[in-house]
Amino acid sequence: MTLDARERLIVALDLPTVAAAEAMVSRLGDSVWFYKIGYQLGFAGGLPFAAGLIAAGKQVFLDLKLHDIGNTVTKGVESVAQMGATFLTVHAYPQTMKAAVEGKRGSRLRILAVTVLTSYDDADLAAAGYDMSVSELAAARASQARDTGIDGLVCSPEEVANLRSIVGPGMTLVTPGIRPAGSATGDQKRIMTPAKAIAAGADYLVVGRPIAEAADPKAAADAIVDEIASRR
Ligand code: C5P
Repeated sequence: MTLDARERLIVALDLPTVAAAEAMVSRLGDSVWFYKIGYQLGFAGGLPFAAGLIAAGKQVFLDLKLHDIGNTVTKGVESVAQMGATFLTVHAYPQTMKAAVEGKRGSRLRILAVTVLTSYDDADLAAAGYDMSVSELAAARASQARDTGIDGLVCSPEEVANLRSIVGPGMTLVTPGIRPAGSATGDQKRIMTPAKAIAAGADYLVVGRPIAEAADPKAAADAIVDEIASRR
């Protein structure tokens, strides 16, 4: 995949209101081309806001992690595809992935699967009724995602190299947990610098607080883009 360094940066708009998101997007200006909107902003007016971003020429990643019966997923994905979003997440259950691939048909929407939530460890999986380790389940779901025609995976930077070896070059790998050297880690435990994550094989980096909480968010975004460019 040939992408400009700037196209690879996705800024997470983890903000409580559309007004706060508008202020951040306007501060970041031309430095950021791609935004991620999750539950918090999505359920606080963020979906019409996302449509406005798309109309203004930005790319949008809707991190809604869908999972429901197939018909409901297909119809939901059709609606997201009509909005013109670029990425949408679903949980990596076979029925859900198949339904999502059907719903995006004919659009430019790309579906990203979440294999196993990074907050889960082996004990959490056992408590949920699974007789598999996190790494076994993540690998199995990654193969299923590829075989179902899913476009990409969301994964921690530490998983990128292994998942790339499982799914091959055709799938898009998107990684959060990115921290430029010297920035606060916050609640992220498995972190990597932008340059290292790209070198490991990530296609896109999701960055939230290191940009949103910087004294100068635009300069922080530009520095990350420079760091990505230095690794290509
Ligand atoms: O602020 P920070 O850079 O940690 O933000 C990372 C973004 O990526 C947040 O929106 C977070 O919800 C999301 N994310 C994550 N880890 C995952 C999946 C999504 O941090 N495994």
